[in-house]
Amino acid sequence: MKRTIVLLPGDGIGPEVISAAAAVLGDCAAEFGHEFSLAEFPIGGTALDCCGTPLPPDTLEACREADAILLGAVGGPRWDDLPLDRRPESGLLRLRKELELYINLRPILLRESLRSVSPLEPRRIRKVNFEIVRELAGGIYFGAHGTERTNGAERAYDVEGYSTPEVERVARFAFERAAARARRLSSVDKANVLASSVLWRTTVSRLAADYPQVALQHLYVDNAALQLVVDPQQFDVIVTSNLFGDILSDLAAGLVGSIGLIPSMSCGRGTPLFEPIHGSAPQLAGRDLACPIGALLSASLLLREAFHLETEARWIEAALDQVLARGYRTPDIAEPGNIVVGCTEFVARLRQELRQLVEQLDSYGWGV
Ligand code: IPM
Ligand code: MN
Repeated sequence: MKRTIVLLPGDGIGPEVISAAAAVLGDCAAEFGHEFSLAEFPIGGTALDCCGTPLPPDTLEACREADAILLGAVGGPRWDDLPLDRRPESGLLRLRKELELYINLRPILLRESLRSVSPLEPRRIRKVNFEIVRELAGGIYFGAHGTERTNGAERAYDVEGYSTPEVERVARFAFERAAARARRLSSVDKANVLASSVLWRTTVSRLAADYPQVALQHLYVDNAALQLVVDPQQFDVIVTSNLFGDILSDLAAGLVGSIGLIPSMSCGRGTPLFEPIHGSAPQLAGRDLACPIGALLSASLLLREAFHLETEARWIEAALDQVLARGYRTPDIAEPGNIVVGCTEFVARLRQELRQLVEQLDSYGWGV
């Protein structure tokens, strides 16, 4: 298979975790006979520094042309004082908007070997496996923003709004995901207070008729946060707005052990984009302390979802589970008794497991 992947390392720990993921994609190409051409472009604060804009035209153009995009993280204290529309984050938001990536999928899985770092462990909750489908190209992130002066006081506003088609397209994706999984969909809104949520709820309810095999429940976002903590096993697929999805996915990441573990896929119309959900973690950057797991799982998600390479995706996930089972941990997920290693060594161990798995694959077959 011949594919082009644009790498957008970005800021903070972004370059460290993307170089880990790129190495593994290189291994994948070598072992399975694919031709992946990886090209790196600036985004975020790094792009501001080099090109004066957080999303340079060359970066956007390369993303449009590529088969998939892999992004690290954007943002950092150096750029925190800039106006919102010039901050590193605005580059990522514009990229999502320009490519019409209106769906963001965040798989939340409690990995067997990481159960003990999860706050669920004392409750012996074993199986957490759900997906958050976050609307990504609308809502309050893209509504009118502004500041004004009224009666001598400064006032700022951000407008939350959704149209029926915007809700429909993301909800259909979520219904389909649920139909292919355990057939339960939870739609999360704040329809007891917000007009945009009333529209969200009625639209999702109407679509339910097209998916009779999927059991739909509606939850208010405050209750959804509670339910995630007290009974996460009830969830299969969650669909929600841009802002609620941003918040609930960090909560869900905390539930399964660390924000460093969760990958994501943004898709819709243009080139699909894969990125870990963690931020640029400036306090960890350049110290070999970053957790590469979110980025590595973003690479396996990319292979599975964008290129339909299920065996290759499983190969990476199996190697990751093997490294964890041997006790290697980056500091964020380390516990007494573990072997604490830096990002570089973690990735070296993983690549070693990848090679061993290939040998097994050659002799026993995969059984995928
Ligand atoms: C995320 C991030 C972004 C978001 C930021 C960096 C703009 O928090 O992908 O979850 O809020 O969407
Ligand atoms: Mn976020």
